[in-house]
Amino acid sequence: MGTLIRGGTVVTASDVSRADVLMENGVVAVLANGIAPGDHRVVDAEGCYLFPGGIDPHTHLDMPFGGTVTADDFRTGTIAAAFGGTTTIVDFALHQKGDTLSNSLRTWHRKAEGKAAIDYAFHMMIGDMRDEVMQEIPQIVEREGVSSFKLFMAYKNNLQVDDETLFRVLRMAARVGALVQVHAENGDVIEVLVKEALANGQTEPKYHALTRPPEAEGEATVRAIRLAEIAGAPLYVVHVTCAQAADAISDARKRGLPIYGETCPQYLVCDYTDYERPDFAGAKYVMSPPLRDKWHQGVLWNKLRNLELQVFGSDQCSFNLKGQKELGRHDFSRIPNGSPTIEDRMSILYHHGVHEGRIGLNKFVALTSTNAAKLFGLFPRKGAIAVGSDADIVVWDPKAQRTISAATHHMNVDNNIFEGFQVMGKPRHVFLRGEMIVDQDQFVGRPGMGQFQRCDPISPVQV
Ligand code: URP
Ligand code: ZN
Ligand code: ZN
Repeated sequence: MGTLIRGGTVVTASDVSRADVLMENGVVAVLANGIAPGDHRVVDAEGCYLFPGGIDPHTHLDMPFGGTVTADDFRTGTIAAAFGGTTTIVDFALHQKGDTLSNSLRTWHRKAEGKAAIDYAFHMMIGDMRDEVMQEIPQIVEREGVSSFKLFMAYKNNLQVDDETLFRVLRMAARVGALVQVHAENGDVIEVLVKEALANGQTEPKYHALTRPPEAEGEATVRAIRLAEIAGAPLYVVHVTCAQAADAISDARKRGLPIYGETCPQYLVCDYTDYERPDFAGAKYVMSPPLRDKWHQGVLWNKLRNLELQVFGSDQCSFNLKGQKELGRHDFSRIPNGSPTIEDRMSILYHHGVHEGRIGLNKFVALTSTNAAKLFGLFPRKGAIAVGSDADIVVWDPKAQRTISAATHHMNVDNNIFEGFQVMGKPRHVFLRGEMIVDQDQFVGRPGMGQFQRCDPISPVQV
């Protein structure tokens, strides 16, 4: 006996069609019109879209950062993700300075096992790229099923790497089928501006943004692209926020280079003025790179519409205002960077993108699921509704309305940067490998049912 989703409209990155979906043994078994119910469990999807389960390729769960640890772990973060329609995350396993990659990876497996309510894969976020660490990359790709590595061009004296290191990793990655991801901001310039601001007594949250100008992001993006070009490597630029960086990616792609870019919901609907909120409320929005002036949003929407930016990640990195963001009450540089976005990622893109007519349904699916699956070596097991693919399916009710609020969200954190936003569209049911995990407003899955997903090595031209 399987589960039959009847009467919905199946949307993939390329097609929209009326079809029933029979899920058996965790995968899509039949996709056709008018499948006989037989003794299957029948789920009515009349009036709903069926999307491939969302893939969020940018999360930081249970991660030590900024002198504290992110507020959501693999249990709370993945349950919240499920409520939003996400069935797979690719979390950043933090490589601890001085440690081997494989040992740091083991720590991340331990954090996820028994807790994750949805499937998960890992990127590795590099703490220090010593020679031994670089030599370990091939075996991490081949044996461990982790094929993407994030390097930082910012966070000086902490995670920042120099150009030589970045270039050498790019060359290694090209050789072994790995994808290098960069946090592209010029950390040296930012360091000077931050020191200057603090010396001038400029300590409020808004100075976080004013000391990290978009030109610093644009410069680092151009530099990373050039280094990738020389190395003959593909490159993925995480959390693109501004015209300067997005244009650099478009230019590179026009030249035929395998350069990919991701943006996130916060950069589409929040802006610099959020930092000026009174009573330290601007701290909720402190993330890196920072929110930009509003006009950048139009540029990002155009890039999403044309798939010049290919992926939509959350950059979920939640910190409570009380006790965590407060660490920087008298010094913006001590505010832990990041915001809770895992739950509302798909809603924000659906409402402001599809509902308000900025992007079409196929693009929505490409951005929230399929392109991440392709780029990170999960396709077609994930990111598709096709016979044989994992039956990760979101039954999305486009007419349901809700108001986003920290009072009702499922993340383990006391703030939501989309507080008060009214959005059309939300999951009615969410299925993970054929099992219902969200039924209306109830979580009906189990922490621990999420399975680790190995990522295949990358072939450079994917999307
Ligand atoms: O502010 C952010 N984005 N925090 C998470 C770490 C990162 O740089 O992605
Ligand atoms: Zn980053
Ligand atoms: Zn991040």
